[in-house]
Amino acid sequence: MDRRTLLLAAGAGGLLTACGGGDGSGSGVVMNPSPATGTGTGSVPQGTTPALTEGQPLRSLARLANTSTTPGVFEASLTAAPVDLELVSGFRTTFWAYNGTVAGPLIEATEGDRVRITFVNGLSQESTVHWHGMPVPAAQDGSPMDPVPPGATRVYEFTLPADCAASYWYHPHPHRVTHEQVFRGLAGAFIVKPRVDPLPPGLIDIPLVISDLRLDAAYRIAPNVGMDYLLGREGDLLMVNGGQRPVLAAAPAAAYRLRFFNATNARYLRLAFDGTPMTLIGTDGGLLAAPVAGMSQVLLAPGERAEVVVSFNADTVLRALPYDRGSMMMGMGGLTRTSDAILAVRVQGPAVATIALPSTLRPIVPLPAQIRTQRFEFGPSMMTGGMTGMTMGAFTINGRSFDMNRIDATARVGAVELWEIVNPTQMDHPFHLHGTQFQIVERVRSGVATPAPYPAWKDTVNVARGETVRLKVKQDMPGLRMYHCHILEHEDQGMMGVLSVS
Ligand code: C2O
Ligand code: CU
Ligand code: CU
Repeated sequence: MDRRTLLLAAGAGGLLTACGGGDGSGSGVVMNPSPATGTGTGSVPQGTTPALTEGQPLRSLARLANTSTTPGVFEASLTAAPVDLELVSGFRTTFWAYNGTVAGPLIEATEGDRVRITFVNGLSQESTVHWHGMPVPAAQDGSPMDPVPPGATRVYEFTLPADCAASYWYHPHPHRVTHEQVFRGLAGAFIVKPRVDPLPPGLIDIPLVISDLRLDAAYRIAPNVGMDYLLGREGDLLMVNGGQRPVLAAAPAAAYRLRFFNATNARYLRLAFDGTPMTLIGTDGGLLAAPVAGMSQVLLAPGERAEVVVSFNADTVLRALPYDRGSMMMGMGGLTRTSDAILAVRVQGPAVATIALPSTLRPIVPLPAQIRTQRFEFGPSMMTGGMTGMTMGAFTINGRSFDMNRIDATARVGAVELWEIVNPTQMDHPFHLHGTQFQIVERVRSGVATPAPYPAWKDTVNVARGETVRLKVKQDMPGLRMYHCHILEHEDQGMMGVLSVS
C-alpha cells in the first residue's frame, strides 16, 4: 500500500493527517546513529528553513475514537508508523506519527474509566507509549525497560483513579531514541475529564499542542547535529496542533480554556498574548486550588502543561518570548530565541456573555511532613574545551549515567519524601518524575528560598541553572519509576535514574 499523502498547502485547511497511516515498512526512515557519541561540532543549520503556509485556521486535534460500547471503558488503538505529509505542494515530509496525524490524536477519557489501548509499533526500531504524568501502574507506564519491538503489538491497560482529571500527554520512551521519535512527530495530548466539573459550563476548551520542527531545504525532517546533543534540539518552526502560526477565530468576550502542551524536545515556551492577560487555572496535574488572575505570561519547560482561561476583545497574537536557558560552556552563547508569534487570534462575530470563574476550583491539601529527604544533582557541572576538541562529560544525575539495570533510589509506597533537585550546571534542566504528581515547596537561589507561589500538582519542574528546587512527593503504586531531565537529548544520553518503589 502506498503511503497516502495529504495536501496541506493553501486551501486544504484540514488536519495534518493522512487517514490510514503509513504502511509500517519503515522505508525512507533514516536511522539515527547512537546519540551517546554526540561529540560532533556541527552547528544548527541557519537560513535553510523553508517556508510553510501560515495563517490557516487552527486545527482541531483528531480525536482517538472509543471503540468500546461498555460504559466506563475506553478502548482504542494507536499505531506509530512513518507517514508522508505534504507540508508544501510538491514536497513530501516523512514524519513518524500516531495514527498518521501530527500532533497525535487527542485521547479523552474520564476519571474512573478503564483504559485499554492497543499499541502497534510500525516503526523499524523499538518504541513504547509513555503516559506522561498519569497515575498508571509501573508495568503500564511505557518505560524504557518495557520496549515494544518493531512490528510488535502490546496492550496498555489501566484504570484512571478518582480525582486525576488533568491535561496529560503521551509520547515514546525507548532507550536512547526517545528524542528522535518525538522530533519526528510522535506525541499527543491525553485529557482526563473530571466526573464533576468545578468549572462553569460554556468555557470553550481548546488543547494546543506545541511542537517544533526543523526541515532541510527539501522539506525533510533534518537529523540532529552534534550541538543538538549538548543543548537539546530546537526546531526552527513552531507548530501549534500541527500547523504553523494558525489563526484562532474567537468570539468577543467568550471565555476560552486553553490547554498548552510543551511537546518539544528542548524548547522553553514563555507564552504571552500581546495585551491580553491570562488566568492560570491548571498545571501538569490538573486544576489549581484557585485561579490565578492577571498573568502576563506562562513559562513551560519541555514536558510541562498549563491551563489558562482567557477572553479576547481585540485581535492579538500568542508569542513564545525569548527565554535564556543558559549554555553548556562559558562564552558559547546563550539559548535565547527571538520572540515568535505562534498563534494569531482574530476576534469576530457578535459578543457573547462573559463567564465568571469560581473563586475556588478544588482542594489541594499540602502533603504532610516528610519521613526523609533525598537529593538529586544534575551533572556535569563543568564542560571543558571549545568548539573544537570539546570534551563531553556524560549527562548524569548524582554523577551517574542512566543504567536500567541499576536502582538509583528507593521509596516506600505512601511515604512522603522531600526531594531536593540541585542544578549546579550552566543550563536549565526540566526535572520529571514518573508515577505520581508532586508539590513544589520552594526554590533556592544564592541561598535565598522562595516558596511556591500557589499550591499545584506537577510532574515536571524547571530547575534553573544554579537553582535548587525542593518538592514533596509520595508514590502510591509500587514498581520501578524513571526520573529524568525532559530535554530529550539529555535524557537519552543518561540524565535519568531509576526509582524503586516498594
Ligand atoms: Cu515525558 Cu519519562 O517522560
Ligand atoms: Cu513521564
Ligand atoms: Cu537537561
